[in-house]
Amino acid sequence: MFYTHRDMSIVIKTPEEIEKMRVAGRLASEVLDYIEPHVKPGVTTAELDRLCHDYMVNVQGTIPAPLNYAPPGYQPYPKSICASINHQVCHGVPGDKALKKGDIVNLDITVIKDGWHGDTSRMFIVGKDASILAKRLCAVTYECLWLGIGQVRPGAHLGDIGHAIQRHAESNGFSVVREFCGHGIGRQFHEEPQVLHYGKPGNGPELRPGMIFTIEPMINAGKAAISELPDGWTIVTRDRSLSAQWEHTVLVSEDGVEVLTLSAGSPPKTSNLG
Ligand code: MF3
Ligand code: CO
Ligand code: CO
Repeated sequence: MFYTHRDMSIVIKTPEEIEKMRVAGRLASEVLDYIEPHVKPGVTTAELDRLCHDYMVNVQGTIPAPLNYAPPGYQPYPKSICASINHQVCHGVPGDKALKKGDIVNLDITVIKDGWHGDTSRMFIVGKDASILAKRLCAVTYECLWLGIGQVRPGAHLGDIGHAIQRHAESNGFSVVREFCGHGIGRQFHEEPQVLHYGKPGNGPELRPGMIFTIEPMINAGKAAISELPDGWTIVTRDRSLSAQWEHTVLVSEDGVEVLTLSAGSPPKTSNLG
């Protein structure tokens, strides 16, 4: 993401706090399970936002973290989810334009439960039929996410994650967005550390058990450069090429990694990554 509290250091969560983060993470993922059948040609992203908002508030008893979220220098975010279509990279503000067959859309959900945040996003192919390029971009970005997750263990470094992601994206002819990154998460939406999706092995802070952060690569089919739309939130590729993103919240466990944002409808981890 973009803004983290630079005066904070990386928080190590206690076992009790980790348990609350497991609950928040699963709930965030369950919002995506819930909304999936609604992501069809003709639906507007404002309608998806309303459905998710009502599910979070009335069914789950969670708070949609994006609503009125206002980091320094930003207007309060006006909606409860982010919906980023085609060349939109992230933070797409839901609106009245209908989705059409062949669109690719990222839905990014962050819930607060009991004061703790869970943050996850998936790509959806509208009408289950997109261009070969769009499908490949979504698949490679998903592989990037899991290759990054595969680097997480005590003693590894944040740069190992970024390197794995960058290598896979670029070897497929795609580019990594630099301006936004993963982030520590807990009582705050965005905490230290910043989790870059590019980098060098061995660089950056060492991972320790009890750290919780997101990995959320934004991968462009064209060049890496981005622009911000006049709404002050929506980020697009400068060359208007397609962009994809997937996000999980992960815990550095004693012996590796635990993905906190899994639920019954989570797509399986890609198997062909070695
Ligand atoms: N969920 C986004 C992230 O992964 C942040 C969205 S902030 C909002 O970090 F205000 F745009 F919702
Ligand atoms: Co995030
Ligand atoms: Co997110």
